[in-house]
Amino acid sequence: MCGIMGYVGPRDAAPILVDGLRRLEYRGYDSAGVAVCDGRSLVVRKAEGKLSRLADMLDADPIGGSAGIGHTRWATHGAPSDHNAHPHTDPSGEIAVVHNGIIENFIALKEELGAAGAVFASETDSEVLAHLVAQEYDGDLLEATRRAVARAKGAYALVVTSSREPGRIVAVRMISPLVVGLGDGEVFLASDIPAILHRTRDIMVVDNGEIVDVTVDGARLQTIDGRAVERDLLQITWDAAQAERGGHPHFMLKEIHEQPQAVTETLTGRLLDGDEVLLEEVHFPPGFARSLDRIWITACGTALHAGLVAKEVFEGLLRVPVEVAYAHELRYRDPLITPGSLTVAISQSGETADTLAAAYLAKERGSRLLAVTNVVGSTLSRTADDLLYTRAGPEIAVASTKAYMTMLVGEYLLALALGRERGALDSAAAAHLVAGLRTLPRVIEEALGREDEVRVLAEGFAGHEDAYFIGRGLDYAVAMEGSLKMKEISYLHSEAMPAGELKHGTLALVTEGTPVVVVLTQTATYDKTISALQEVKARHALTIALAYDDDTEIAKHADRVIRIPRVPDLLAPVPSIVPLQLLAYYVAAARGHDIDQPRNLAKSVTVE
Ligand code: AGP
Repeated sequence: MCGIMGYVGPRDAAPILVDGLRRLEYRGYDSAGVAVCDGRSLVVRKAEGKLSRLADMLDADPIGGSAGIGHTRWATHGAPSDHNAHPHTDPSGEIAVVHNGIIENFIALKEELGAAGAVFASETDSEVLAHLVAQEYDGDLLEATRRAVARAKGAYALVVTSSREPGRIVAVRMISPLVVGLGDGEVFLASDIPAILHRTRDIMVVDNGEIVDVTVDGARLQTIDGRAVERDLLQITWDAAQAERGGHPHFMLKEIHEQPQAVTETLTGRLLDGDEVLLEEVHFPPGFARSLDRIWITACGTALHAGLVAKEVFEGLLRVPVEVAYAHELRYRDPLITPGSLTVAISQSGETADTLAAAYLAKERGSRLLAVTNVVGSTLSRTADDLLYTRAGPEIAVASTKAYMTMLVGEYLLALALGRERGALDSAAAAHLVAGLRTLPRVIEEALGREDEVRVLAEGFAGHEDAYFIGRGLDYAVAMEGSLKMKEISYLHSEAMPAGELKHGTLALVTEGTPVVVVLTQTATYDKTISALQEVKARHALTIALAYDDDTEIAKHADRVIRIPRVPDLLAPVPSIVPLQLLAYYVAAARGHDIDQPRNLAKSVTVE
């Protein structure tokens, strides 16, 4: 996730671009840049680090010109650096691009362009687009861009400008968001409405597969294959604070709703035809997966809960023992981590002190270290032998939602890759899993569609002081995360445990009306978990079951039912967590809490 901007009009473009990028910094902030056409040539300024560095450069040495493009980056391909910062240009410097998203076939395109003599200045996937547009250019930027994107595969948004046609900008949307703002004699382009809302409230949303041709006379929209599109303008009435949160009252709710898009990005370019998976930064030595004798998973908090899901998935699919260890415990143990094992350290930030310490320990003991992380260039990613970036984009709310979701999806991808290499997963089983993974963005969308039902349920929950979450196997892992979400933002006392454990002590705390959430997606243990539900019901608890849409039994047992779309049991944690995130959110909202910044907590825990 990155932020992109464009401007054409009568005013100096650079300050307008920088101002818009500042409002898009939530989408990434590891480097920033602009390219402005001064009427004769393109002037590019870019710098690693926060946008303020670029702003200082431009203050010290301003660029004139009334058309330009800008970018604030969240690295996916190539570490944060000056040379990987956008805009990227073709070798002549006459064409510049900014890009948000991923070009799946960039390696093949680089090879093709390289064979024709192209030299690249960055490690990004984005730079190939500047070369492609230049190669296709014959005097018409719109047509060159159209032909260039026909050669690129992926989910992205792209903005292109050229000194050969000053005052013209072309932009394309292939899944990643893009909006056009129409002002008085000026036109703005941005990844998101908040970047330009203070400039104009007349917004045209570019749809997937559309290309827009922008000049000072306005914006002409077409489908990528050239059919003209008429789009009604939206009149946006949000205030500035609402706009920053995409119209949602809190970042947490915005991030919950971003999960289908985040998962699309996690999957992009990684699922190949049939049963194959491509993890671009996982390079196990030959024979490693086959000889693997143990997997260690280490993490904290929500990331640890993602690790609990991974344990079930890896053991089930790979038939290898998996140990999940809190990083703050592992670092002070004398664990039997041996060479030949794989340690998977999971961390959204890649900066959690305990997780880093456990990762160092694993490496010292000769284990191969694989990082599942969201932040490119983080300390963890620089320490690991192999990397699986989750690509959730910046997560602002302290309570993790989309980062957790993309960790889960990353783990399924890893299980696929390891399972194929290890010979533990045959082609049919892998193809089945690949097909399931492809459905996940839609499945999450459907789960989000039940938000109103969860909101009503939350009203009945908000007056309680204790809650319990139970489940077995994968459902237990989800219960742990649902309970943590509830605790950290609603401040309800909440406990999660395996469904069979309740009767060994905690049942003493269940009294009339105590809410008990029972996660019930695993067919193999369904009946056993129903027994646990009956046990709490007999103590007059308020039983809330989370079950598939097609579960016709559950309404006979539970007081309330939260429904999720049917998926293969192995993938159930993905839809299951959505209503539990929403439940925590609406309980906290009903209790009037500071949802994005809960008391006593921090987004990244960089101390012991
Ligand atoms: C979850 O909502 C919390 N913010 C917290 O448990 C978090 O997951 C934990 O501190 C680990 O952070 P990390 O993923 O950045 O390592």
